[in-house]
Amino acid sequence: MKHLIDPMDLSVEEIDELLDLADDIIANPKKYESVCAHKKLATLFFEPSTRTRLSFEAAMMELGGNVLGFSSADSSSATKGESVADTVKVVSCYADIIAMRHPKEGAPCLAAMKSDVPIINAGDGGHNHPTQTLTDLLTIRREKGRLDNMIIGCCGDLKFGRTVHSLIKAMSRYSNVHFIMISPEELEIPDYIKEEVFEQGDMSYEQVRTIDEVIDRLDVLYMTRVQRERFFNEADYVRLKDTYILNMKKLKKANKDLSILHPLPRVNEISVEVDDDPRACYFRQALNGKYVRMALILKMLRDVKGE
Ligand code: NCD
Repeated sequence: MKHLIDPMDLSVEEIDELLDLADDIIANPKKYESVCAHKKLATLFFEPSTRTRLSFEAAMMELGGNVLGFSSADSSSATKGESVADTVKVVSCYADIIAMRHPKEGAPCLAAMKSDVPIINAGDGGHNHPTQTLTDLLTIRREKGRLDNMIIGCCGDLKFGRTVHSLIKAMSRYSNVHFIMISPEELEIPDYIKEEVFEQGDMSYEQVRTIDEVIDRLDVLYMTRVQRERFFNEADYVRLKDTYILNMKKLKKANKDLSILHPLPRVNEISVEVDDDPRACYFRQALNGKYVRMALILKMLRDVKGE
């Protein structure tokens, strides 16, 4: 049984195949409107979400399938003390595929061991978010026409931001990618990413404290929200939350073909005046999230059938 827990579960060939399939779905949506008829996707969200859950659900509907699930732990039997393992064992009796988000790192991996149907990790704590990464890769490929030979700046909460961790892992598969990590000292990328991904792979990186000093070198700027829910105390969050605010003044020195990504939700880290700039890709990115999840659901269900 194939699950998607970590972006490294996918080979570069599988990533390219998924992105090609997403491109084909975008170009020919009618061709796919009933390919998942009579199939059910369960969305088990133990942590809040707008884009990820709704894009999964919209994706399954546009493939002609059905959806069931819950959007918070409060409305599930978790409140009665049921374990994740039992919940998943039961839900796999009702659904053909499960997308699961959980605040605890590793919960979807445990779920995969118990499930009779494929599990997709829709975000586990500060750890991984592989379907956001597929969204980001599709967006970068559609905007720039390539996934290699580029300089990517990641800005904000690089410590707790799971989307950045997963993006770095996936980009380690492509050649000549340089990362510039822009964060305050307290929110630097975790050591395990530095040691296991940056230093073992073929990638280079540097760490800086301001957007200004690097903006003119970037092909992609990946902005992130300070992850309030993962802070141990509110005072630290308040002190760090507005460290970076991207505005038109800061963009003056940027390349004309810069692509600005953000997994969303945004708080203050991108000023709304940037939204109308053609370099702002984050709403197109949210739309791409639906298409790439369509490709993923379709591929995983086909793999189960051995097609
Ligand atoms: C991200 C997440 O949940 O990690 N959002 C998303 O899935 N689009 C980013 C965030 O919450 O800041």
